[in-house]
Amino acid sequence: MEIFLDSSNLDEMKKWMEQGVVDGVTTNPSIMLKDGVKDLESCTRQICKMLGERPVSIEVTSNDHEEMLQEARAFADWGSSIVIKIPVVNQDGVSSLGVIHTLTEENIAVNATAILSFNQAVLAAKAGATYVSIFAGRIADEGNDPAVTIKNVRAWLDMWGYTAKIIVGSMRGAIDIQTAALAGAHIVTIPPPLLPKMIDHKYSRETVRQFNEDSAKAAQHVASRVAAR
Ligand code: E4P
Repeated sequence: MEIFLDSSNLDEMKKWMEQGVVDGVTTNPSIMLKDGVKDLESCTRQICKMLGERPVSIEVTSNDHEEMLQEARAFADWGSSIVIKIPVVNQDGVSSLGVIHTLTEENIAVNATAILSFNQAVLAAKAGATYVSIFAGRIADEGNDPAVTIKNVRAWLDMWGYTAKIIVGSMRGAIDIQTAALAGAHIVTIPPPLLPKMIDHKYSRETVRQFNEDSAKAAQHVASRVAAR
């Protein structure tokens, strides 16, 4: 399974890339607003430079399908690893599958985003999306179980031999990452604040503290034996 960072914060990217756990990045307009990004192009180019060959998903900003196409073509020129996020429907509920299909035909990689149901994922994969982004937290917000959606989409993709990869996003807590991973996500995209929660554990700290203390005690014994000779 791959791990993407759901972020536009370059410091966090650098930090977690140095830890060897970052396979790509996803962003969206809300993340960029929260991270204080002023210039979409400049920020995206910097992310691409840092990430090298790893995929970087950026989202179109228009609700109009023709404008989405124009934006996507322009954004795709900013780096060879860019993937364009297209919401499966626009804010009026009109299908964006035609946009996904057209961009795919033009060899522009698409991340079909804002997916909240099995059927949306199926149609996005059929339209040619490289990635289908299932929003686990938002599925749970509506009282549904994201694990069921993830499992079913994964089973369907595998059954019919689709190459689209499932990105699970909208992570709210460390348990959501575990749930997505075990349900069959190809990729989980994680907000940076959740990574320390994944790696840290108070009993691991205590265990290491015990080892450190015993190691110091052993060194003291050796030193006193040597001194006694
Ligand atoms: C995924 O690609 C999205 O950027 C993100 O995970 C959306 O999550 P949210 O529900 O926190 O907005």
